[in-house]
Formats: sequence, C-alpha cells, structure tokens
Amino acid sequence: MPSLFLKVSLVLVVSLALTIQITPDARENILPTPNVSTKEAVGTAGAKIKLHATSEQVWRDLIDFGKYGEWSKRVPSVDFGEDKGKLKEGMVGVMTVVPPNASPNTFPVEIISISQSTHTLVWKSLTGLPDWVILSERVQEVVDLPGQPGWSQYRTWDTWKGPFAYVMQWVFKKGIEENLEG
Ligand SMILES: *[C@@H]1O[C@H](CO)[C@@H](O)[C@H](O)[C@H]1NC(C)=O
Repeated sequence: MPSLFLKVSLVLVVSLALTIQITPDARENILPTPNVSTKEAVGTAGAKIKLHATSEQVWRDLIDFGKYGEWSKRVPSVDFGEDKGKLKEGMVGVMTVVPPNASPNTFPVEIISISQSTHTLVWKSLTGLPDWVILSERVQEVVDLPGQPGWSQYRTWDTWKGPFAYVMQWVFKKGIEENLEG
C-alpha cells in the first residue's frame, strides 16, 4: 500500500495540475518508449542531429560515457562504473547534468534495453518513486541515413507518464529540452 504521505502528495499534485491546467502534449507529438505508450504518455522532449560519421562510429562514441564532456557541455558524464563492452540491461549509472548558470545535478538511471546491432540504448530515471507514480524513459539511437553514405542521424527523446509526470511537464520540460540540445 502506498503511504499516506504519497497519497496526500498525489492528491495535491493532481489538484495543482488541474488548477493550473497542465496539459499533456498532443498525441501526435508523443514519441513512445518501451514502457511508455503514446496513449499513456504525458509528455515528450526530444532532439535529433545529423552527423558526418557512420552510425557505428557515432554509436561507439555514444556508449563511451566517460568522454561525454568532449562533445556535450550539459551532460559531461554518465558513469556506469564499468567498461563500455559490458553495458547491459539492469546496469545502474549516474548521469551528471549541468543546467545553464547552475551547479551540476546527478541523476541515477538504469539501462532497460541496449542493442549493439540496432544501435539503440534505453534507460529509465530512477526516481525512488514507483513506476505508476512517475516513469520517465530516454531512448537514444543512431541510424545510417539512407542514400547518404557516411552520414547518420542521432536521435534522443525522453517520454514520461504517471501523476508526477504532470509536475515534470510543468517544471522540467524546458530544462530537459535544453539538456538534450546541449
Ligand atoms: C520496460 O521495457 C524493458 C525493455 O523492453 C523491459 O525489459 C522492462 O522489464 C520493462 N519494464 C520496466 C518496468 O522497466
């Protein structure tokens, strides 16, 4: 049974959401993740970028988490504490995010799926709250661009659901978008 505190917080959050009219994103803008369907999602934030490298090369950099600082100011590192060859489902890492003009924050994440063949990595945020309260997943994938040899596209998106997702929608969406773009 959820604790009384959790229930009271939920009621407050939902009433607040209704009062200030937090609206979920339009369905056509939702990008689903393995456990957050388009139907259930509250919001999505995503970014994509075209790169002059094969998907294999970009993927190798992507999973070289210690080197993030070389290409992203906002996410200087993701620490899985083990070497990249051993990345697998269930591994927990700590992502460091540096918001503009603020001090770094760290967020624990858990890999829920990784495919070396399709160059897809999915993790979820470990919030300490049950999945039915808030579930936020991030997909990252790299695909070769058809008809453009030597070019690929990196895509990433966060999608979230649950009552607390309305708070995220309200407080964090802009920040998440900035981090993805950074
Ligand atoms: C979410 O999806 C992944 C991959 O499809 C799966 O392994 C996992 O058990 C699912 N559930 C949760 C709660 O993460």
